Amino acid sequence: DVALELACRMPKAELHVHIEGTLEPDLAFALARRNGITLPYADEAALAAAYDFDSLQSFLDLYYACADVLRTADDFRDLMLAYLERAAADNVIHAEIFFDPQTHTARGITYITVLDGLEEGLRLGRERWGISGRLILCFLRHLSEEDAFATLAEAEPWLDRIHGFGLDSSEKGFPPSKFARVFARCRELGKPVVAHAGEEGPPEYISEALDLLGSQRIDHGVRAVDDPTVVARLIREGIPLTVCPLSNIRLCVFPTMEQHTLAGLLAAGAKVTVNSDDPAYFGGYMNDNIRAVQAAFHFDAATWQSIARNSFEASFVDEAQKAAWI
Ligand code: HPA
Ligand code: ZN
Repeated sequence: DVALELACRMPKAELHVHIEGTLEPDLAFALARRNGITLPYADEAALAAAYDFDSLQSFLDLYYACADVLRTADDFRDLMLAYLERAAADNVIHAEIFFDPQTHTARGITYITVLDGLEEGLRLGRERWGISGRLILCFLRHLSEEDAFATLAEAEPWLDRIHGFGLDSSEKGFPPSKFARVFARCRELGKPVVAHAGEEGPPEYISEALDLLGSQRIDHGVRAVDDPTVVARLIREGIPLTVCPLSNIRLCVFPTMEQHTLAGLLAAGAKVTVNSDDPAYFGGYMNDNIRAVQAAFHFDAATWQSIARNSFEASFVDEAQKAAWI
């Protein structure tokens, strides 16, 4: 498949990946040993066998539990390096990477420990593989807006070290409207903002993310199809969707890849990008996602080229950098 080979070889950006979701079982056990922690699984195979999810929440429970092995700045550095090495191998040349400070500060790990470690990983990754990376601080939507404000206050002394803000975790019952004030403050600080919306939640959450949070991209957005007026708006306004195909199958958003809405959205003119979300948990990195999409939809080379172009256009680098990449 010539189009598939081209898609895998093409330089591209990854815009939707959670660093905590790149924790592979072998690294989880190595960090547990290093930190004197006992994981509630006998071995790597037993942990991997637990990756059998029926919803976003069933995944999040395990994802937050495994994050407990991340304790020191070195741990966060090693996590970042492991991800960047794999991303670079898939010809990802730029990544905008989510991190969830509340998952760590709630366990007594300081914000600066997390930030120092991730940044050191980014620096070494750029040096070793030439890959550029930026950090997007995500607020956990199952926690209160007050908690998000406290996290923002912790981040403010080092604001120049993060690139933007996002919103993730359990979606249903936690609408974007709950975070309108904290996102207004994020925008006042001059940072781009994004939000997960329309993964499991309804299209109204996509509208809220745009209207109430000022979200510049929609993370997932694949349930937009339940409201044609929302689809029409996404297309009219050129709002990028950071779609995560393997994630949506593993979390049962769609029963099969053939039933995934990304092909229809793309054909209708939506600015779709392909991303890995939590690659350690969902069966693969960037090119694994591309292979799974191609097996279902058999896109031609031009379609894959437009998806790669979308990834650069939707990124938060400056226009000169975009022009150099496109
Ligand atoms: N959705 C919401 N929250 C998340 C996800 C996701 O796919 N991955 C990590 N946190
Ligand atoms: Zn996500």
